[in-house]
Amino acid sequence: MTAAPAAPVTTTRLAEMKAAGEPIVMVTAYDYPSARAAERAGVDMVLVGDSGAQVVLGYDSTVRVSTDEMLTLAAAVRRGTQRAFVVCDVPFGSTEVSDEQAVTTALRFVREAGGDAVKLEGASAARLSRIRAVVAAGIPVVGHVGLTPQTAVALGGLRAQGRDADSAARFVREALAVQEAGAFALVVEAVPAEVVAVVRPALRIPVIGIGAGPADGQVLVFHDVLGITEGRVAKFVKAYAAVGDAMSDGVAAYAAEVRSGVFPAAEHGYAARPEAVAAAEAELARHS
Ligand code: KIV
Repeated sequence: MTAAPAAPVTTTRLAEMKAAGEPIVMVTAYDYPSARAAERAGVDMVLVGDSGAQVVLGYDSTVRVSTDEMLTLAAAVRRGTQRAFVVCDVPFGSTEVSDEQAVTTALRFVREAGGDAVKLEGASAARLSRIRAVVAAGIPVVGHVGLTPQTAVALGGLRAQGRDADSAARFVREALAVQEAGAFALVVEAVPAEVVAVVRPALRIPVIGIGAGPADGQVLVFHDVLGITEGRVAKFVKAYAAVGDAMSDGVAAYAAEVRSGVFPAAEHGYAARPEAVAAAEAELARHS
């Protein structure tokens, strides 16, 4: 007898996990294989992050990725995910114009890509209005405060937030405002743990940290977790494997065998019936 498939994770289940003090595990994914890996590992939430702009599409910033590109990534992740709750990042430029634009974009991520929720960065008055509008349209929203890469230029670069008095007070205001706007969970990025600890008792919604110390859950970028990212990584990254090296070692071994003639060997090909070779030779003779 095969075991019944585990029930899909829902917003209710995530709230229960917070209440029970059960850590929520979230990781990013951007395509079918990364989604399958996350699903098989039993993570609770998968984020189709706009970090995919950099780690899979090779752009120099998250703001360069388009809605259509993100929809393609999100749909592939959905196809690879059955139990995990799929959150789709809405890219820069796809919600900034109006609440109506935000609802239209969020609906595409749910209807075309099959996402369970969308993530909106920031907590300006306009962002809060977008969150309220998307929630009112029946789409669950994850907020994102602290370091918000889509508006990093306005924050003075990709740097930790909440480290001085003004920034810490602003972080607290923003976290509470996003909760009041109706988000069902909140990603907090690159904020000192002591500052996050101050606001957590006032947050009824699950807090998912990334470089933010202890929280109801944690999120990391798939390529960082697996050691695929090249060059410098953020201070909060911990790599659990060296898949990047394994990938280039594997391709290098293949290249060496092609160059030396070791690959392909007989077992990598197909056997022909004796009359097939004779027929091929006869056909060639007719053409010469
Ligand atoms: O795009 C992303 O990967 C993110 C995480 C860093 C939270 O937003």
